[in-house]
Amino acid sequence: MAEISVPVFFFFLLCLLFFSAISEASKCSVQEFPVVRNISELPQNSYGRGGLAHTTVAGSLLHGLKEVEVWLQTLSPGSGTPIHRHSCEEVFVVLKGSGTVYLAPNSHEKYPGKPQEFSIFANSTFQIPVNDVHQIRNTNEHEDLQVLVVISRPPVKVFIYENWSMPHTASKLKFPYYWDEGCLELEPPPKDEL
Ligand SMILES: *[C@@H]1O[C@H](CO)[C@@H](O)[C@H](O)[C@H]1NC(C)=O
Ligand SMILES: *[C@@H]1O[C@H](CO)[C@@H](O)[C@H](O)[C@H]1NC(C)=O
Ligand SMILES: *[C@@H]1O[C@H](CO)[C@@H](O)[C@H](O)[C@H]1NC(C)=O
Repeated sequence: MAEISVPVFFFFLLCLLFFSAISEASKCSVQEFPVVRNISELPQNSYGRGGLAHTTVAGSLLHGLKEVEVWLQTLSPGSGTPIHRHSCEEVFVVLKGSGTVYLAPNSHEKYPGKPQEFSIFANSTFQIPVNDVHQIRNTNEHEDLQVLVVISRPPVKVFIYENWSMPHTASKLKFPYYWDEGCLELEPPPKDEL
């Protein structure tokens, strides 16, 4: 009987683990996608958040983008994002409806503090500076709020706050984020940059 030496056995075991991890990691990516995609036909999901409809229009995990990711989100009246921050740039274009953006500039305090409030409206645009704690809410009770969102440095690493007086150090990392779950088992958790 042919004997398999212990190092060779472990080499094969490692290869097996490596390739199963790779296939696991890429199970969300779309291998073949058309150049032009009809946004109405892309998957849309609430990812368990009431009032949210999220579509990844162009993604790092889905479509192989390295520098940016684009989302289309619809928030029903009264709904909103969590209070959160991320170490990437983020640009919003409001396509429909109106609402409020709450922004606590990163003033190097121990916690975000009372945010500034800004009204947003159809055809308005705003950007969130890197690591500033923010929240977007549809504060118009009559109409959906629809936004196109561009982020840099995908996939997004989100730190979530329960309220504006919670210390930065107590914010909870959600990574992979809801729409990236199941795609990212290989990546080590990122370091907090605050
Ligand atoms: C895009 O998809 C929607 C929903 O399926 C459909 O109604 C629409 O006709 C499509 N647009 C084009 C140009 O194919
Ligand atoms: C948004 O603003 C641009 C520039 O003024 C204008 O051409 C466009 O029609 C506006 N869109 C809406 C939906 O108001
Ligand atoms: C904010 O959330 C923290 C963590 O859950 C809690 O301990 C604190 O009491 C909350 N503060 C306010 C003002 O609600």
